Amino acid sequence: MANNENIDWSHLPFGYIKTDYNVRCTFKDGKWGEIEVSDSEQISLHIAATCLHYGQAIFEGMKAFRGRDGKIRIFRPDENAQRIQRSARGVMMEPIPAEKFLEMVEKVVRLNERFVPPYESGSSLYIRPVEVGITPRVGVRPANEYTLIIFVTPVGPYFKDGFKPTKVAVYREYDRAAPCGTGRWKVGGNYAGGLAATERAHAAGYSAVLFLDPKEKKYIDECGPANFFAIKDNTYITPKSNSILPSVTNKSLQQIAKDMGLAVECRPMLLEELADVEEAAECGTAAVAAPISEVADMDNGIVYKIAKDGKPGPVTTQLYHHLLAIQKGDEPDKHGWVKVLD
Ligand code: PLP
Ligand code: COI
Repeated sequence: MANNENIDWSHLPFGYIKTDYNVRCTFKDGKWGEIEVSDSEQISLHIAATCLHYGQAIFEGMKAFRGRDGKIRIFRPDENAQRIQRSARGVMMEPIPAEKFLEMVEKVVRLNERFVPPYESGSSLYIRPVEVGITPRVGVRPANEYTLIIFVTPVGPYFKDGFKPTKVAVYREYDRAAPCGTGRWKVGGNYAGGLAATERAHAAGYSAVLFLDPKEKKYIDECGPANFFAIKDNTYITPKSNSILPSVTNKSLQQIAKDMGLAVECRPMLLEELADVEEAAECGTAAVAAPISEVADMDNGIVYKIAKDGKPGPVTTQLYHHLLAIQKGDEPDKHGWVKVLD
């Protein structure tokens, strides 16, 4: 059994900690098999598996929270069940039925219940499903066998300073995805595509890259690990693009923004518009709503200063607190987003 006694629940990084079990399911002979429980952190793969050579690898990210009442709450797993099916179809993999996916999610969380961080800690249990093509192929063709594994790990904030504004960088010489490519699906290769730009940004003191649309390089797409939104004149503005991942967090924040009385615009957003937005942030399961202090256009030296006093903006702060309150059960779940484990 893994050890949870030495975990400092309030100071967790966003990283991997061993838990007790993961769950697995394999598609073979035209059908998904039984859900298996494993205590191994390893998998055995054929050296010619399609996931290794031809990128048939997709994943998901969700979180489970412990409420003040001690109950565990999983945030919108049905949305991730739909998205992993879309990702699978996007790269010719076998979509897992939503009921099976949801059963696996619930099972892996229950099996690792002692790793769901305490309510007060500010941490959560990150749930990471990954599906890979396992059939050996040398010619470029989809596999006909797939394995889906879900592991969990307790995590803290994605950006190490937590809810503090950070700087992001724009480079035109890198794209994470092509205009009609895989950016709209959660395919592992998209993240490989973003690594060089992201490492360069980190080395220059930026927390992330803000990618532009890969066709015209005029519009804002998204950050490496998260969507983007800005606040201006009581309006929540978020980019519409065929090369960004449809974020569950962004969708939820749009609803919360409406509930708060803001207008919501989902439309192409020019980089230059940042000259007069009031707030900007990255949003995602890992990032939650991470405020952006400035966006630096590294190609021409233009710096869009957003959080001028270095503090998170008032609207982003409210959105962040409402989202977390719903996730932890502190606010009523009026949209039916939370799966409570009894
Ligand atoms: N965009 C990218 C590229 C991501 O990796 C993520 C993380 O999952 C998101 C956006 C946010 O999506 P979600 O809110 O569903 O986690
Ligand atoms: C998530 O927010 O769940 C992600 O997958 C982002 C990142 C860790 C890749």
